[in-house]
Amino acid sequence: MIPQSDKARRKIVVVGAGAVGSTTAYTLFLRERATELVLIDVNMDKAKGDALDMNHGLPFVGQTSIRASGYEECADADIVIVTAGAAQRPGETRTDLLKRNLAIFDEILTNVMASGSEAILLIATNPVDLMTQYSQRVTGWPAHRVIGSGTLLDSARFRYRISRELGVDPRSVHASIIGEHGDSEVPVWSLANVAGMPVSLPEERKKEVFVDTRDAAYEIIAAKGATYYAIALALDRICAAILNNEGSVLNVSAKLDGQYGLNDVYAGVPCVVDRTGVRSILELPLQPEELEGLRRSAEKLTNLARETFP
Ligand code: NAI
Ligand code: LAC
Repeated sequence: MIPQSDKARRKIVVVGAGAVGSTTAYTLFLRERATELVLIDVNMDKAKGDALDMNHGLPFVGQTSIRASGYEECADADIVIVTAGAAQRPGETRTDLLKRNLAIFDEILTNVMASGSEAILLIATNPVDLMTQYSQRVTGWPAHRVIGSGTLLDSARFRYRISRELGVDPRSVHASIIGEHGDSEVPVWSLANVAGMPVSLPEERKKEVFVDTRDAAYEIIAAKGATYYAIALALDRICAAILNNEGSVLNVSAKLDGQYGLNDVYAGVPCVVDRTGVRSILELPLQPEELEGLRRSAEKLTNLARETFP
């Protein structure tokens, strides 16, 4: 009889045990984010192998129970993370994945809904803003419960690159990327700060910092085939905010409902994240060119959604 943790029960299901899903599950496991972790994949051997491999690490970690199982496990899950789907090949954009991943999502979402789940749905599969919008459309779940990783990863990259320019800890750099998690994303330089002091860099440095941020995935995919460590940490961060009812401000992909003059489109913006998912969307005091960039990014997403899943 395995002793059951006396910690409050917390259950996370990860759909997709590939590079992102497997690394995310391992991150959640190491940080003991949940008392129960479930892996689902069409390749159940991979999911089972990952679960067994992690369980062998329990003597070093603690009491997280991890197993490979079926969609019925979503019924009482707190969070269902979806990482399943095609990933970019070198030279592909995220939006090139849309049609392939919509087809995969029809099966996944049908199974999640059939379980009667009332979990928060957290989407990572790309193009993440459109996949999240599609998920909310298909499930009909309230928008606050259907969120995407958004530009949380991009903002982390942005904070990292600024930290290298300034020689300070990335955790002390506060800066946002908003809009599409993709080529049309927007840097909010006007509000970037360290200890409340504006980040001041020469224009050519700012351009390089942003291009490095925006194009980071292409560089990593060309080098090693996929990205998975930072996204896993970003997904864990979102899970912590939900499970601990933190009310933290995170740049997740949320459904805009009038904010920034935008409606019925998912995009990465600062949101208050707690046990309910997205409790509220914050409207940053953007500079005109930043607001224009956000609107252009949202328009790209709206047009793609209209063309692909009208
Ligand atoms: P991968 O190819 O390593 O893993 C995908 C997994 O999905 C595979 O194990 C596959 O068996 C599984 N799968 C495929 N169809 C399925 C189905 N119908 N049901 C259940 N499982 C299914 O790909 P990787 O690298 O893990 O990327 C996954 C997705 O995450 C891609 O769309 C990628 O672009 C995206 N991603 C998103 C990021 C973000 O910031 N939002 C960052 C990094 C990756
Ligand atoms: C990334 C891609 C894969 O930003 O979405 O890592």
